[in-house]
Amino acid sequence: MQRALTLHQTTIGKKVLMAVSGAIIVGFTIGHFLGNLNLYLGPEALNGYAEFLHSLPALVWGTRLVLLFAFGVHVASAYSLWTRNRQARGSRYKQRKDLATDYAARTMYWTGPILLLYLVYHLLHFTILPAHPGDVYRNVVEGFQDPLIAGVYIVGNLALGFHLFHGIFSAFQSLGANHPRYNRYRRDLAIAISALITIGNVSFPVSVLTGVVTL
Ligand code: HEM
Repeated sequence: MQRALTLHQTTIGKKVLMAVSGAIIVGFTIGHFLGNLNLYLGPEALNGYAEFLHSLPALVWGTRLVLLFAFGVHVASAYSLWTRNRQARGSRYKQRKDLATDYAARTMYWTGPILLLYLVYHLLHFTILPAHPGDVYRNVVEGFQDPLIAGVYIVGNLALGFHLFHGIFSAFQSLGANHPRYNRYRRDLAIAISALITIGNVSFPVSVLTGVVTL
């Protein structure tokens, strides 16, 4: 009996799941970055923004559930593509071929786990075990005044930049938007989104470390 292959069983299906779940995470990341810009407006703005969000539990829990699901699908599909790739390859290449896709895929497989570790640390630091519950501004500024913590955020967000660039670029391909005439725009869009989020996110710890943002 022939078994119908469902979306998550085929390589292209897994890539589509990666692209769609990745798009949800990118949407959140852009919204989260825009909200965090309140740091530059001072404690009332950032804490007021956080209070406003927490006054909408349906929004907070809805977002958490969707994100948890998207992260689960993203990581599970990545793991499955990785193991399938390794099995298909059989033995390791004697000589590395630096094809563009090969390079992009390899970048994803080291930035991905770094991001996962970063996210666990980030959630413990600000959401699960905050030093000053309810005072988001103080948590962020006090946190980033420690060069080690600021360093973790800078490295984590640089990894995010590489991951976003290659992720956005290859997501278009997985979703079928791959034509030589438009590939330049695909690249430009990937660079614009990843640069905006990376420079913006790295600016937060750097502004605190350099004393531009203080308590
Ligand atoms: C320097 C960059 C970042 C800063 C300053 C920052 C800041 C914060 C703060 C202060 C909170 C707690 C908010 C509250 O309790 O109201 C938070 C939560 C969170 N952040 Fe970030 N964040 C950054 C980057 C990221 C990145 C790159 C991601 C990954 C996509 C991320 C994902 C999350 C998630 C999932 C939560 C938990 C939301 C919740 O369930 O309450 N953050 N962030």
